Formats: sequence, structure tokens, C-alpha cells
Amino acid sequence: CGIVGYVGARAATPVLLEGLHRLEYRGYDSAGLAVVHRGRLRLTKAAVRVDELRELVEPDQPGTVGIAHTRWATHGEPTDANAHPHVDTAKRIAVVHNGIIENADLLRAKLTAKGVDFASETDTEALAHLVASALEEGAPSLEEAVRATLRGVNGAYGLVVLDTHNPGQLVVARNGSPIVLGLGDGEMFVASDVAALVRYTHRVVYLDDGELATISPDGFVTSTLQARRTAKTPTTVDLEDSDYQLGEYANFMHKEIREQPEAVRRTLAGRLDERFGTARLGGLNLDPRAMRGIRRVKFIGCGSAYYAGQIGANLVEEWARLPADAEPASELRYRNPVVEEDTLYVAVSQSGETADTLAAVQELCRKGGRVIGAVNSVGSAIARACGSGVFLHAGPEVSVASTKAYTNMVVCFAMLALSLGRVRDLSVSDGARIVEALQSLPDHITAVLSGENTISEVAKEHSNAERMFFVGRVRGWPVAREGAQKLKEISYVHAEAYQAGELKHGPLALIDPAMPSVVVVPDDELLAKNIATIEQIKARGGPVIAVTNAELPEGLADSLIRVPRGEPELDPILFTVPLQLFAYHLARHLGRDIDKPRNLAKSVTVE
Ligand code: G6P
Repeated sequence: CGIVGYVGARAATPVLLEGLHRLEYRGYDSAGLAVVHRGRLRLTKAAVRVDELRELVEPDQPGTVGIAHTRWATHGEPTDANAHPHVDTAKRIAVVHNGIIENADLLRAKLTAKGVDFASETDTEALAHLVASALEEGAPSLEEAVRATLRGVNGAYGLVVLDTHNPGQLVVARNGSPIVLGLGDGEMFVASDVAALVRYTHRVVYLDDGELATISPDGFVTSTLQARRTAKTPTTVDLEDSDYQLGEYANFMHKEIREQPEAVRRTLAGRLDERFGTARLGGLNLDPRAMRGIRRVKFIGCGSAYYAGQIGANLVEEWARLPADAEPASELRYRNPVVEEDTLYVAVSQSGETADTLAAVQELCRKGGRVIGAVNSVGSAIARACGSGVFLHAGPEVSVASTKAYTNMVVCFAMLALSLGRVRDLSVSDGARIVEALQSLPDHITAVLSGENTISEVAKEHSNAERMFFVGRVRGWPVAREGAQKLKEISYVHAEAYQAGELKHGPLALIDPAMPSVVVVPDDELLAKNIATIEQIKARGGPVIAVTNAELPEGLADSLIRVPRGEPELDPILFTVPLQLFAYHLARHLGRDIDKPRNLAKSVTVE
């Protein structure tokens, strides 16, 4: 979900709509906004996308204070009534909220017993009624009314409250769902993501969990839920509004796929040491002795970040010979994990806000684990909770399907594995070979991108398939998983990833002419095994799309996607790019809404 708020001298509506437009990738099943003019609330909300909301709002609607929201449904279906902002019965108070109020049923029951009629099924509406009644019962200010309300609330929230009787201010609160204030000159902004702010200001303040702020055209005051003042230092974000614009591209996924050579260059910049064949990740805050003390590495993340972690774990094992693995954060957080002092935990996240990953980090920290972040969004909750780590420098990623951030995750893990290897048994010459391979990655990715037309053709040929296998072995296995994930999320074609050797233990039964298999075939020591897998699939009549940098026997595969040759350990990075393009073009042929796939959101800040 996305939140925007404005208080200042300009008309609020265009600022809010523009902000929502930037945040739509966070959720897009309904949208709404509320502004105050002459003490009256003007509320527009519906189960529509931001462009349609724009049509519903009077373009020159007056009012210089307002709040807005774009929703991804959690409590209550996407309907007009459930769209935010939510208001109290007298339409004095309006609230926009991200997160989940866990005791919403109890709050609702208490309010209903007092005679309050609810207009929606959401957990948020209770907040509007509670703030209104706190004010009626004599709360001295809007901030106090919000504070009193939040003391009775369990759950996660990032929220903004507007009071038609106090139109010169907004009250903002955060607990587990991001809120960032944007500092203007005689005006203030608030949003759940800096994307909505950078067009207006680069000076921002990130609220912490348990913090409240009152913002007005003159500035802001922050305090805790217990009414203790807090001091905040503004920071400057180095993102530009143009980073969020499509330019020549039809959609963000395509733009972000094509940006990968540049994104990889950025994340490598200044971090490679050719002379000593190593990488320097200053943000880790680990000297060589501390690096040597690490006995195990564990990557945690969700979705694509988890698959990237799996490649990271393979690289750590290969180069540093340390036991390493990856686990979905959503599992680890509830599993009562054994936390060892000499394990390095790496929390992986593009947004830095994924609730499951953040909760896993917090649990590991509570148990004394050493956690570093591998995060794209500077200032995000996971980056701050970890305190040290490596930023991905992929630039803003807008499309729900992760591409350039995923690639940069793996590139960063390659640098981490290299530096862990170099304080152990990896020689300077092996290190130098890896450094050189990393430096050639951007050009190799460019070469993959130049084959886009062929990949599009292959995707088109297979676009009537209702199900597909993605098959890989060892290095190719996480590649297959990520390939299947990409296809599922944006094309809605059922895709299942399998370890090549496991096919014969059950899944081969599914192979028939209607079930193509995308097989990852690097030219490495397992080539013969992978060729045998393809033959098994062909023998059962299954079409094969081989993604390869090897010379395969003539006619073995039905379709070929070629990848340039690099160092075998880095093949997983290179082999993922054509699979991104494959999923992208297949989804295009099917006419899917690429950047906003159904039922999904970019950043899942709820459980
Ligand atoms: C969502 C997105 C995925 C993403 C995952 C983790 O499910 O749809 O594309 O991989 O969250 O997101 P994160 O921001 O933590 O990397």
C-alpha cells in the first residue's frame, strides 16, 4: 500500500495524485484521497487505479492539506467502501493506514456497542472513529487524540490522520510500516516511500517504530507513544524523480531489465581490488580477523531475494569453503532457529521493508545473532535494523517483479564470498580471476540483452503453454527457481522449478507435448548430466528450451537461448537475465499487466 500527505500553501490534490502515481507499484486495487477546504472534508475513493481516481476528482479542487492512499487489500475486499481514506461518522477525521491492526475486531465491537455504524469492513475505520471520540472527549490536540488511540491498538501501522477542525496540520505515526517526512520550504510532505517525495524535496526524515509526528507548513515535531520528544536529523536522498519515469520504455520491468549492465557497474564501483584479487565491502564493518572468525553464512529473504540468497550460499561454499545456506525469512521467523555466534546472517531485501524479513532480523538480533543487510533502499527498516551491510545500488526498482535488484543482490554476494574466500584458502590469482570475471559481467549482460529478439520469438512460440518446468542442477537450480518465479508472477502460467536429477523421481510423469521444459545448461562439469536430462524429457515427448553457453548436439533442444561464456561460478547471474526476458516477452504476448500483476504487491509489509 502507499500513503501520501501534504500540508502547505499549494493545492493539495495534484500533489497527492502525483504522489499516488509514484506509489502505485506498492498496491493498486483501490485508491482515494481527502482534502480539507473551509473546514469541510472532500473525500474521493473507489476500487480503481490512480488514473481512474484522477478522473473522479475535480482537477482544481481547492484545499491545501490532504491525505491519499493506494491500497493492496488485506482486511476486506477491494471495494469502494473499503478504499482509504476512512472517516468517522461526522466526517471530521480522515485516516490513511498501511499495515494490520490485530485487535481490530475488539475495537470494532466496542465502538459498535457505543452505537457507531461502520461504513467499511476495514481495520482502519476503527481508528478514525477512535480519534474522533478522543477529541470529543476532550483530548487537547489531534496529536494527543492519535496517541491515546494508538495506545489501545496492537499491530503494525504507518498512518496519517487529518482533522477538518485543525486543517493546518497532519498527525503521522509509525509502527512496523514505513513513514518518511519530506521537508519543504513552507510546506511539508509525508509518504510511505521516498518515491512520492523526490519530485518535491530531497530532505527527508525517517520515523522510527513507536514514533509520532505532527507536521505543519512550518515543520515537524516528533515524539514517542509515551509523549517523550525525540530528536531527528534530516538526511538527503540522492534519488531523482526521473529515476521513477518510464522514458522510452513501455513498462518498468523492461526498463529495469535493460538497466542491468549499468546497475551492476554501480554496485561493483570502488569495491573491487584487482591487485590483491579481493573485494572491499566497507559497510560490513568486519576486519580480516573477524571475517576469519565466521564459521557459517546464512542468507534470509523472501521471494526473489531468497533465490538470490541461494546463489549467494553456493558461492560462499565454493570460494570460502564455509557451510552456507539460504532460508525463506517467513519460515525462519517462526522456527525457533538455533542461532550461533560465529554464523553471519545476511538479510536480503530490495525494499528493506518486507515484514517477514524484518521480523526474522529482529528475532535473530534478540537471540544475539550477527546480522548484516543486503538491501537496496537506503533508510529502510531492514537496513536500519541491521546497522551494517552492503547496499545494492540498483537504483529504484518499480516493477513488482524484481530484476536489477535481484541481479545486484547476487553480484554483492559474489563480492562477499570472494572477500570471505580471500581470508581463507582462495589464492590471490584465483581472487584476481574472479575480480576480472565480475568486471566483465556488465558487458556479458549487454550481450544477453542484444539477443532479446530471439528470446521474444522463443517466448512467443511457447506462449500457449499452460504449464512449464524450469530445470537446473547445482548452480542452475536457483536459476531455474527464479526463472519459474518470474514466469508465474507476471504471466500467470503455471511454472514449477525442479532439480534436474529429481525429475526422474516423480515429475517426469507430467511431461507431455503440452508441457515445455526450460533447461539451464551451463558449459561446466555437469554438462553431460544436463544433456542426459534433456534426453529424458525428449524421450517423453516434452518440448525443450535450452538456455546454454555450451555447444549442444544438433537437434537436441527444440529452442535455444544463447548466453555468453564467462567464469562458471558466475553463470547463475548471467543465466537469469535471459529467463527474465523470456518471462517478460511471454507475458507481453499474453497481454498481461506486466508491472502490476494480479494479487501481488511490490513490498509486502504485512505477514
Ligand atoms: C514481493 C515481491 C517479490 C520480492 C519479494 C521480496 O513478494 O513481489 O518480487 O522478491 O517481495 O521483496 P524484498 O523487497 O524484500 O526484496
